[in-house]
Amino acid sequence: MGARIIDGKAFAAELRGQVADHVARLGAEHGIIPGLAVVLVGEDPASQVYVRSKGRMTVEVGMNSYEHRLEPDTSEADLLALIARLNADPKVHGILVQLPLPGHLDEDLVINAIDPAKDVDGFHVSNVGLLGTGQKSMVPCTPLGCLMMLRAHHGSLSGMEAVVIGRSNIVGKPMAQLLLGDSCTVTIAHSRTRDLPDVVRRADIVVAAVGRPEMVPGDWIKPGATVIDVGINRIDAPENGAGKTRLVGDCHYDSCAEIAGAITPVPGGVGPMTIACLLANTVTACCRANNVPEPEGLTA
Ligand code: GUN
Repeated sequence: MGARIIDGKAFAAELRGQVADHVARLGAEHGIIPGLAVVLVGEDPASQVYVRSKGRMTVEVGMNSYEHRLEPDTSEADLLALIARLNADPKVHGILVQLPLPGHLDEDLVINAIDPAKDVDGFHVSNVGLLGTGQKSMVPCTPLGCLMMLRAHHGSLSGMEAVVIGRSNIVGKPMAQLLLGDSCTVTIAHSRTRDLPDVVRRADIVVAAVGRPEMVPGDWIKPGATVIDVGINRIDAPENGAGKTRLVGDCHYDSCAEIAGAITPVPGGVGPMTIACLLANTVTACCRANNVPEPEGLTA
């Protein structure tokens, strides 16, 4: 295995440390405690795990965490009423509505009801538009975490060929915008892309965000390229005993690590950075709301 491992877990711990320092300073110098409200509708087990760890880490960095758990059959009107209350609450600087929402709720409508200034997910159309036009915005957490790791590893990304596999609103599209903003030559590949292996072989930077376990094999990777694996897929692992499972990324780790220059592992790569960036976005939103200078290094 030749690749250097990009240790997202360590990177995230460092970022959370920076966030905690800024939170302490906001308290000491301005008497402000940043607050993050997380809304979970229903009982999706994976979402419950995420929401719990978001709440725990929010408190660990010294911020206030407000959790709102709603019944699976919550009406759109009730959810929108909650969002309106959170929008108006000066103690709440960030609002995150955990996705996916139950099928009877219109995700676009709900996300666009959040005050864009409190939209720490960066999913509101205003933030999408601001990011796309290179203006100050809230930046989606997972792509922001990937960008931070890429910048830390490479310094400048200018002129590099980047291929993003996956065109989701949560990862693929904003990732491509951020890489473009850093002057990469960017391709967004997806399930209909012709000759996907050849497209990926051009890349100095591969960001895989498709949600298909181990889809990208090592022989798609240009020697020395940097591989950022956003996938978190649970697969059966009978080799570990009956009924056992394990987490894998969208890239086949062992074969990609043979060829790549650097790679993020799963788990321990992009995943921990996502929550750290959520906390960073909450501090950024809090500073903007209070006209306090924004700390360096917490956003794109
Ligand atoms: N579900 C999976 N990822 C995310 C995310 O980044 N934000 C929200 N709100 N929901 C998610």
